Amino acid sequence: MIGTDIGHAAALLRAGKLVAIPTETVYGLAGNAFSLEAVSEIFAVKERPVFDPLIVHTADTGRLQELAVSVPDAALRLAERFMPGPLTLLLPKASLIPDLVTAGSPWVALRIPRHEMALSLLRMLDFPLAAPSANPFGYISPTTARHVEEQLGEKIPYILDGGPCQVGLESTIIGFPEGSLPVVYRKGGLGIEEIEEIVGEVVVQAHSSSNPMAPGMLKSHYAPRTPLVIGDIAALLRQYSGRRLGVLAFREGSPDVPISRQQVLAPSGDFGEAARHLFAAMRYLDALGLEVIAAELLPEQGLGRAINDRLRRAAAGK
Ligand code: TXA
Ligand code: MG
Repeated sequence: MIGTDIGHAAALLRAGKLVAIPTETVYGLAGNAFSLEAVSEIFAVKERPVFDPLIVHTADTGRLQELAVSVPDAALRLAERFMPGPLTLLLPKASLIPDLVTAGSPWVALRIPRHEMALSLLRMLDFPLAAPSANPFGYISPTTARHVEEQLGEKIPYILDGGPCQVGLESTIIGFPEGSLPVVYRKGGLGIEEIEEIVGEVVVQAHSSSNPMAPGMLKSHYAPRTPLVIGDIAALLRQYSGRRLGVLAFREGSPDVPISRQQVLAPSGDFGEAARHLFAAMRYLDALGLEVIAAELLPEQGLGRAINDRLRRAAAGK
């Protein structure tokens, strides 16, 4: 059921049940992070392999110190500047967090969502919420309550509707390995440039599935079921002529394809607007039963880097 009753969501979570919650990035599938039963249920509902750890959500920066053994200086400065916001910090895990949450890793991923409804809910609870994106494992993340309902509606008792996500891309994940520059393990809703303004240079290591620090970052994540190819749209139209094709464009569509089969992310050229629309656009095109989706990359800067990362993963999916 979809609704806006935060009290009802809190009661379900206290009873060990799962609730889909809005955040500024994507919708999360939330459960009590301290409850093994709730956390196991998250993996089951998502059909997610247990080697892929969950992000733990809390409402205020003071709680970081309880959930992590220590908080490096660079992490503190990022927290002060960007939390609440689309940023996840990998910190040494406190023992009160179950190993199942972190997939046995000594690091825990902590995040404070910048969404009033999620923050109100978290403040009503005396436990943090483990919450992966509320989609079946490997599929595109949901950015509306309706997206969640379409795929998980039968499996969870309640979806808290906080409107469309204002960022639209998952959080940027950053860790602080000893003796190294900070490492970005997932490009996301907070631009690398903004992070570097606070902590100086960072290393970006956001791709491989063999990287033990980002276990969930499989190459073929975020994939629509329809094959997606990346390139120059006009060239792709020639290459795939005669096929039922859809277009996922940045600023303008193609005059040669019916508009019902096209999604233009941001006619204004604004990267934030493109990020907000990306996953809904992929879902829309995926539902048309096309043979192929032709997509173009954005300039490799700001949020364009995270958008391109998602497009490349989607292209690797099939
Ligand atoms: O924006 C977001 O981060 C959203 C919203 C709901 O908060 N959540 C999200 O969760 O994207 P999920 O489960 O789809 O992605 C979590 C990813 C994992 O796949 C993994 O790459 C990384 O976060 N992660 C989580 N805990 C980790 C840990 N202890 N060590 C390394 N990576 C971790
Ligand atoms: Mg996910």
